[in-house]
Amino acid sequence: MIGLTPPAIELEGVSKRFETYTAVENVSLTVAQGRFVSLVGPSGCGKSTLLNLMAGLARPTAGQVRVFGEPLNGINRRASYMFQQDALLPWKKVIDNIALGLDFRGRDRKASNRLAAEWVKRTGLDGFGEAYPHQLSGGMRKRVAMAQSWIVDPDLVLMDEPFGALDVHTRLRMEGEILDLWAATGKTVVFVTHDLEEAISLSDEVMVLSAGPASRLVGRYEVDLARPRNLIDIRTETAFHQLYRRVWSDLREEVLKSYAR
Ligand SMILES: Nc1ncnc2c1ncn2[C@@H]1O[C@H](COP(=O)(O)OP(=O)(O)OP(=O)(O)O)[C@@H](O)[C@H]1O
Ligand SMILES: [Mg+2]
Repeated sequence: MIGLTPPAIELEGVSKRFETYTAVENVSLTVAQGRFVSLVGPSGCGKSTLLNLMAGLARPTAGQVRVFGEPLNGINRRASYMFQQDALLPWKKVIDNIALGLDFRGRDRKASNRLAAEWVKRTGLDGFGEAYPHQLSGGMRKRVAMAQSWIVDPDLVLMDEPFGALDVHTRLRMEGEILDLWAATGKTVVFVTHDLEEAISLSDEVMVLSAGPASRLVGRYEVDLARPRNLIDIRTETAFHQLYRRVWSDLREEVLKSYAR
């Protein structure tokens, strides 16, 4: 049965050029359904570009993107996207920001309000449903963005450095909450980060991209650490350190190359 289940995402020989600049070149990868996979690589290597290709916001210059076995043409309707910069509408209350994706899908107003109220609670925003984005802390804005992307019940969640700007404690909490959501829903997650510790502690697999231009996949690492994971303690485990050193030897080289360019 497992062999018949198509991957959530397949990139086959995917390249993306912007005029004369080649961002990614000949990237092939698969993400099986239900997995939590991270993409890491130096700044500017093409991580967001790959997510945009998976989301159908950009078209590959060469190669093919398949989503649950079907070639992707246009927007990927099975995915939701948590952007690198959150995209909250400043003139809408938290609860209405959370309900946006449901509005776009033409859901009944009453039902979407009810569901949005649930997500206000579920993402720890109790009491802030009527607040406006400018009244929120950075961490709370991320919670709204998280609720926005999960409320539409997507099969696939694309997350682009969602917690990069947060302090370390808030970040640990939110990482834990994402893992809980993921474990409870069985969705597929593709998570972009430049932070290797974060990638390893959250993921089933870490994929390393080379420095740009013409970035390619230079390594894929299974993370066979037991779940559920304690994100605070996991970083002190020997198996974590061993894996970190292996992946870092790849990533380090690419980071140094990107400095040199
Ligand atoms: N629309 C565009 N037009 C031209 N160049 C682009 C466009 N989008 C991305 N690029 C270029 O492609 C390369 C990869 O960009 P991308 O945003 O995917 O990198 P990234 O790995 O997400 O970087 P960061 O870690 O800083 O977020 C960069 O050199 C960027 O300038
Ligand atoms: Mg990016």
